[in-house]
Amino acid sequence: MEKAVQMLEFQEKGDKRGRLVIVEGMKDIPFDVKRIFYIYGTQKDVVRGQHANLRSEFVLINVAGKSKVRVKDGKGNEGIFSLNRPHTGIYLPNMVWKDMYDFSEDSVLLVLASEHYDAEEYIRDYDKFVEIVSRGGHI
Ligand code: TYD
Repeated sequence: MEKAVQMLEFQEKGDKRGRLVIVEGMKDIPFDVKRIFYIYGTQKDVVRGQHANLRSEFVLINVAGKSKVRVKDGKGNEGIFSLNRPHTGIYLPNMVWKDMYDFSEDSVLLVLASEHYDAEEYIRDYDKFVEIVSRGGHI
């Protein structure tokens, strides 16, 4: 799997009892999961994220409700993606600026991460992010 921003479609195992989605590290997503967290109860006008990560890769899945993600590469390219189905996710490699917004009231945004939490690898200043990108991703 190419390590570029991309939407992922997970297989839905549906039967009479309902639906089941499986996400396995190094199979359905290009990393092993070290951490999960989920975001809910976010107001519609709130923008979350607003950071890039030196090392962490993420997969975001709206397991309920919907939200949007805006990604920027720090070189002038940006994209907007809608997360609105429990079997659809977005893969975000490291060194991508991300904003999550337009959360529906029932939104539960599940995040799978490749690293344990380390505040030091979060870049929370956009200008600093652009500067690091211009140096080839090195601080
Ligand atoms: P933050 O990164 O601002 O969340 P988001 O990107 O969704 O807007 O995190 C909010 C707070 O939670 C911040 O104080 C850091 C803390 N936090 C952890 O301690 N561990 C974690 O794994 C995450 C994602 C956040």
